[in-house]
Amino acid sequence: MGDNRLAELAMVHSEIMACTKCDLHKSRKNAVPGEGPIGAKIMFVGEGPGQNEDEQGRPFVGAAGKLLTELLGSIGVSRSDVFITNIVKCRPPNNRAPRKAEIEACNPYMMSQIRLVKPRIVCPLGTPAIATVLGEESSATRAHGKPQTKGNVTILPMYHPAAALYDASLKEVLASDFNVLKDLLKDPSPPREPVLEDGREMRRETLEKWV
Ligand code: URA
Ligand code: SF4
Repeated sequence: MGDNRLAELAMVHSEIMACTKCDLHKSRKNAVPGEGPIGAKIMFVGEGPGQNEDEQGRPFVGAAGKLLTELLGSIGVSRSDVFITNIVKCRPPNNRAPRKAEIEACNPYMMSQIRLVKPRIVCPLGTPAIATVLGEESSATRAHGKPQTKGNVTILPMYHPAAALYDASLKEVLASDFNVLKDLLKDPSPPREPVLEDGREMRRETLEKWV
């Protein structure tokens, strides 16, 4: 079973690397599927690859990634134990925000990652990721630090570490939201199968949004 999930995740990541479903494929150097172990308790979802990520094909390898790694360290978690990805897997040109059509085209990949990794907690980072995971009315300002449950998975929205890089007060908020994450990790109950909101299992062919 674990092996099947690993093989299936590898297939999803190969698909992403060859994907042409939206225009972002035209300007990317490398698609950035994401990385981390199957069965990771935590999945972080950022906005999209930046220049460093596009060049290296890996998520959160620049300054925001360094802060993310530090924040994880502050609650005793190693970066190699978490799964890290983005709502779009290819870099938007000049770091513009990803467009709705691009986010929608890419969404099935994130849903497959959630279904296969089965994280206990998903942390969308910043408003575009939060709105993608929780719905368009959600924002970092309103939702950060408050865990909610969706499709059997705990969602803990947070500010984007890039926003906190040059804003000490946001960095404090982010650090205190990481302490909420630390408390959530103490829950001893086994992880549950991610499902769609109406209770149906998520399947590979499920292209619906997770609503
Ligand atoms: N910012 C993001 O949202 N994602 C990355 O992978 C890097 C920076
Ligand atoms: Fe495909 Fe997503 Fe890249 Fe668009 S952003 S080309 S949907 S992998």
